[in-house]
Amino acid sequence: MNGDFTSYAYLVSAICFVLAIRGLASPETARTGNLIGIVGMAIAGAATLLLPQISTWLFVFAGIVIGGAIGAFIALKVKITDLPQMVAIFNSFVGLAAVLISGATLHDPSLYGMSSGAAMGLQALIEIALSALIGAVTFTGSIVAFAKLQGLMTGSPLVFPGQRAVNGLLGLTAVFATLAFAGWGSEGAFWGMTALFLVWGAMVVLPIGGADMPVVISVLNSLSGWASCGIGFTLDNPLLIVTGALVGASGGILSYIMCKGMNRDLISVLLGGFGGETAHAGPGAAAPAGTVKSGNADDAAFMLRNAGSVIIVPGYGMAVAQAQHALREMVDLLKREGVRVRYAIHPVAGRMPGHMNVLLAEANVPYEDVVEMDDINRDFATNDVAFVIGANDTTNPSAKNDPSSPIYGMPVLDVERSGMVMFVKRSMATGYAGVDNPLFYNDNTMMLFGDAKTMCEDIVKAF
Ligand code: TAP
Repeated sequence: MNGDFTSYAYLVSAICFVLAIRGLASPETARTGNLIGIVGMAIAGAATLLLPQISTWLFVFAGIVIGGAIGAFIALKVKITDLPQMVAIFNSFVGLAAVLISGATLHDPSLYGMSSGAAMGLQALIEIALSALIGAVTFTGSIVAFAKLQGLMTGSPLVFPGQRAVNGLLGLTAVFATLAFAGWGSEGAFWGMTALFLVWGAMVVLPIGGADMPVVISVLNSLSGWASCGIGFTLDNPLLIVTGALVGASGGILSYIMCKGMNRDLISVLLGGFGGETAHAGPGAAAPAGTVKSGNADDAAFMLRNAGSVIIVPGYGMAVAQAQHALREMVDLLKREGVRVRYAIHPVAGRMPGHMNVLLAEANVPYEDVVEMDDINRDFATNDVAFVIGANDTTNPSAKNDPSSPIYGMPVLDVERSGMVMFVKRSMATGYAGVDNPLFYNDNTMMLFGDAKTMCEDIVKAF
């Protein structure tokens, strides 16, 4: 097949991928974005199959059928709250592919159009080493992240004395192994170096708490992109370089946004030790700091109906309870009564980026009712009721006024400026950050203890 044709086809695919990412930026355009991405991938696949060096389509089609069937099955089965571990396991495959392709390139360079038999140049060896490094770290790091999120191992940070020194030493040894490989270029040196990278990837993720995993997964996702980019250089395939760079850059930006939303720096997340299960107080464990007023569904229904404006603040507990449909039903009734209702979305509400937006879209909440934190925060001052459902840290004012708080500096929703705040949650327990929320004891707060979904259903009944 003509090389020009392949280049043009790759260019069209690359444009499709950029447009796909653009589309995925908002729930409203996400489906279209996804479709454009599928079209881009179909063009890329077809153009690659037509390359003269592809001698048989059999294995490619077998791979597409088997992989596609497994992927479709998983995509249909996976629950939204389980998406992070799905991304983790898929990232691990990209990492493994990078390691295997690097090994195969070294084993038989002629297969990849490199000068067969002749000693490979230093540049090619460095490319192979980098692909193996990023791929191996992504592979084992993602497997550990998957195991933590899936509950196959403890989600708490796994720490032992001298861990950072051990990890540092491992990293240093890996650098020396890479230099040795670049000098010798032997397959033995390659696999020895790769084994070190594999151990290093797992060791880096082990001390990170389960709740910090979304950031780690985003970092690993970014790494998987750079791994593909590295393979692209090895195979001299411009489309792989472009798509790898797109995934790498978007994953990097996402990690930055998440860290900013939580007021943590990436280094401290990656060094671990925060956000493990041990950081959580159990139900009822938060130290009382005053009197707490609690109400029931009837009280809530009465106040909500009599409000002029209500802002709903969803959080992780809404996702756990799968309360979005019952909540939507409650909001529909309120709107019918003439109450103005909007949803306020904190950038890190829930456990993954866009978590709340996806759940609300699933319940057919109109996009125009869903407002990002920066655009709605000033409206709390003129709002009657803030209905906080399964959210906690994202409303905690300690982030604004307590420099000793672990969440100090994190941007939060100013719910307490509303006429009244209702918190729907099961107990006085803390959220992910493990810090008590002083708002529970405010005069204008009413706690609605119970499961988020049941509470919404009860409020609907009370209407
Ligand atoms: P959290 O602060 O974790 O609070 C969630 C609350 O939901 C808990 O206090 C819990 O209280 C309640 N809850 C749990 N199950 C419930 C149920 N079935 N019914 C009713 N309530 C239930 O959540 P948030 O406000 O969404 O904040 C997110 C936190 O996760 C932040 O600290 C953020 O930094 C962190 N984080 C977010 C991300 C991203 S990207 N979203 C990534 C990593 C970390 P009870 O146990 O009393 O019910």
